[in-house]
Amino acid sequence: MKNFISVADVDNIDALVAKALAFKKEALKSQTLGAGKRLGLLFLNPSMRTRLSTQIAAENLGMKVIVFNVGQDGWALEFEDEAIMSGNTVEHVKDAAPILGKYFDVLGIRTFPSLQNKVDDYSELYIQQFMKYAGIPVLSLESATLHPLQSLTDIITIQETFREQRRPRIVLTWAPHVKALPQCVANSFAQWVNAWGKADFVITHPEDYELDEKFTQGATYEPNQDKALQGADFVYVKNWSTYTDYGRIYNNDPAWMLTAKKLEPTNNARVMHCLPVRRNVELSDAILDSANSIVTQQASNRVWAAQAVISELLGNK
Ligand code: CP
Repeated sequence: MKNFISVADVDNIDALVAKALAFKKEALKSQTLGAGKRLGLLFLNPSMRTRLSTQIAAENLGMKVIVFNVGQDGWALEFEDEAIMSGNTVEHVKDAAPILGKYFDVLGIRTFPSLQNKVDDYSELYIQQFMKYAGIPVLSLESATLHPLQSLTDIITIQETFREQRRPRIVLTWAPHVKALPQCVANSFAQWVNAWGKADFVITHPEDYELDEKFTQGATYEPNQDKALQGADFVYVKNWSTYTDYGRIYNNDPAWMLTAKKLEPTNNARVMHCLPVRRNVELSDAILDSANSIVTQQASNRVWAAQAVISELLGNK
């Protein structure tokens, strides 16, 4: 694996899931693999789970890790080619990334979308520029349109939880939120479930919240949330802002919040969320505090997903 920025970087999802689950059984089984290697984790935006789980994963492989909060502590970076840098940006990625490529063996980057410039966001300008100029493997810690470490974690969690000899019904449902959020978790979840191909996959959201079809192709769209939830084995709850008329909140109907009542027609569904979650806005306390919620198991699996991916980036087959 050369980089990890989307499911397209993965040859075999099942093999990667198996590798992650093997690390879950024996965390330190490859603790010399990363000896003498350094992982740089660059955060242009906030994080808790991604930062800590990726650091633990790399340390389990024997790597040294340096976390750099670019957004708070670093120089403001310029990403546009041929920019005349007379504004607020201080250093071009073309100058910064090669230096990071000398300091580190693998470079992790978190860079959220602007939600203002759809063309730049959907071309993944920032992470692409790092890949172009760093000269070392790049690991997405969540980019403008995708969150592949989260999605790998989600597949791992579904696979280890679902024990029946049939395809699970997985429902991705939009939920209300107070802020305009990126589409990346939903895009990425759709992309991975479709590529995995082992589930009946339904997406439900209000009018105007369609996601980019290049990620959702293969899923069934059901506009009625109650219908979508019928017989669900897994319900993945997530807010996203509008994609077509980019980055807006058109509808924040609280009726879309997932409640215990809405779970009744499901197959006693396990409820997933990438976290952080706005309680009683996206998901009710009654669900989050119930046995249906597997959000803690899901977040804990972030370590094993990251460990499997980093071991691949280090060249371990
Ligand atoms: N799910 C997730 O990426 O969490 P953080 O934003 O806390 O890293």
